[in-house]
Amino acid sequence: MIEKLDFGSASAEDRYALYEVAEAWASEDAPDRDPAPVESYIAMWESRNDLGFEPARFVVARENGKIVGYAQAELSEAEANAHLALVTVVVRPQHRRRGIGTALLRATPSLLDGQTVVESWSVGAGEPGEHFAAAHGFRVVTSMTRQRLVLTDLPELGELPDGYELVTWNGAAPEELVEAYVEGLNSIADAPFGETALDQAYNTVESVREEEAQALSDRWVVLLLHGGEVAGVTVVERDSVKHDIAEQQQTVVLPAHRGKGLGRLIKARMLHELDGVGTIYTRTSSQNEHMLRVNHSLGFEDRYTYMAVQAKTADLRA
Ligand SMILES: CC(C)(COP(=O)(O)OP(=O)(O)OC[C@H]1O[C@@H](n2cnc3c(N)ncnc32)[C@H](O)[C@@H]1OP(=O)(O)O)[C@@H](O)C(=O)NCCC(=O)NCCS
Repeated sequence: MIEKLDFGSASAEDRYALYEVAEAWASEDAPDRDPAPVESYIAMWESRNDLGFEPARFVVARENGKIVGYAQAELSEAEANAHLALVTVVVRPQHRRRGIGTALLRATPSLLDGQTVVESWSVGAGEPGEHFAAAHGFRVVTSMTRQRLVLTDLPELGELPDGYELVTWNGAAPEELVEAYVEGLNSIADAPFGETALDQAYNTVESVREEEAQALSDRWVVLLLHGGEVAGVTVVERDSVKHDIAEQQQTVVLPAHRGKGLGRLIKARMLHELDGVGTIYTRTSSQNEHMLRVNHSLGFEDRYTYMAVQAKTADLRA
């Protein structure tokens, strides 16, 4: 049986079953992994994602009343991404290859508000999801590398070239810098992300202020300025449940300032700001050699690669 589930009003039992499905997937290739607490998933499902997409909408598959699989769709209020839904389909390992994933995927358009393109950003290379996506006509649009840094020694802070200035904060951007910050964030659109339909230049002062107001945990920013104009930015967010873990989000050096080691410099500076954080995760396009190299030089290690796949919504019912 496939039906919609409103996460906000879902029973504790249903929420826990969703968590079990998601956690079974997360630990599939890492049986020794410490399970993430249920609170981490709930926080994720109740908040916007880091690209400003709204909390997920769900359809679920039940067997004897219990949820054994789900499809989630995340939609963006930003005009730049109004055409796109981010979709994830997950089925408990014991229930696979019985058509449940297909039934969930076919029900996904019922969650959308007319978005014409769907992308899934969590398809593991060589895993069932890759075969499933291919069987349903999705095409691969980009490949990403997940990296992790276990902080032991802090890197040396390089010397800032003449004319540059660094500003750092935790929480809301100072009023006089918020426009420069938005411009910096939107410059990530230059980074290679294959043929995704995702527009990363969706930030506005209003959307940044809204995200800041809704943030559940620390958000550190290092902003690089040159002659009062933005030259680069990097952002890290603390996990709202496991406080010693953080996610390195966007890092950008604007085109006119590249090739001077400033990317490494702002990231190194960031590591000095992260009070009480022991492990940092990040993801970068597998084609983005520069960023991967910067991250390796700071001690990040590659964990795995995954793909983003794309289909037209109109093709999902087929
Ligand atoms: C991907 C996933 C949702 C598929 O669920 P499922 O219920 O097994 O899917 P279906 O039974 O509807 O499979 C449909 C078709 O996909 C293909 N497929 C699915 N799993 C496959 C596998 N392990 N190997 C090869 N082909 C596979 C087959 O063509 C299959 O049709 P068939 O069984 O008639 O051969 C499930 O494996 C899963 O939860 N994986 C982890 C989450 C994930 O990676 N999601 C992808 C991101 S959206």
